[in-house]
Amino acid sequence: FTPKVLAGKRVLITAGPTYEAIDPVRGITNRSSGKMGFAIAQAAQQAGAEVTLISGPVALETPRGVLRIDVQSARQMLEAVQQQAGAADVFIATAAVADWRPASMADAKIKKAEGEATPGLQFVENPDILATIAHSPRAESGQLYCVGFAAESENLVEYATAKRRRKGVPLLVGNIGPNTFGQDDNVLTLFDDSGHVELPRASKQVLARQLLLEIAARLPRRQ
Ligand code: C5P
Repeated sequence: FTPKVLAGKRVLITAGPTYEAIDPVRGITNRSSGKMGFAIAQAAQQAGAEVTLISGPVALETPRGVLRIDVQSARQMLEAVQQQAGAADVFIATAAVADWRPASMADAKIKKAEGEATPGLQFVENPDILATIAHSPRAESGQLYCVGFAAESENLVEYATAKRRRKGVPLLVGNIGPNTFGQDDNVLTLFDDSGHVELPRASKQVLARQLLLEIAARLPRRQ
């Protein structure tokens, strides 16, 4: 991938699932292999960008030349993103963030006792990392270009168009899940102000490069 379309740019990416602890040995998580986000991180590095990849728990190797920060929960992911976003030119949110977390984490393993009721779980809402960053002053003034992902099982165009507006991002990348989860290839549909365009089925590596070309073409030109 020779065109250095992102030379001099700093790209911040979230990838993988988040893990929300119930007690020290149990938790809830989302299905996400992290493959798409890691492929984007690698392609961005190859396109000349300085890349920071903030990842939930995944079984993937860090792409060469990429700075990786490992986190577990949505709140940790948001904190890491906020620490890095001030220096970034592009933010790409591919992580499958858990929408809710247990309201409290038990300090010790919850014991299973004969004849006792099953534990009840209370949930609270997690922060929306993408929407938080997309509504920050740097993003709203055009210094930080934000890209979101949406996995939908149906009505992709309708749901993704609405999600793009709700999240406040100029570009939203839709795909039909959950059949793409963990797979090596995918079909992506790009939604922006002028409508939507499909990147046909290809490997996640090839799609990552195509997506970065599309992003690079949308970045404000430096005078
Ligand atoms: O609302 P939904 O989870 O479908 O939105 C998907 C997009 O929003 C993805 O880009 C995902 O990384 C991001 N997101 C986030 N924080 C959340 C939920 C979603 O950054 N709490």
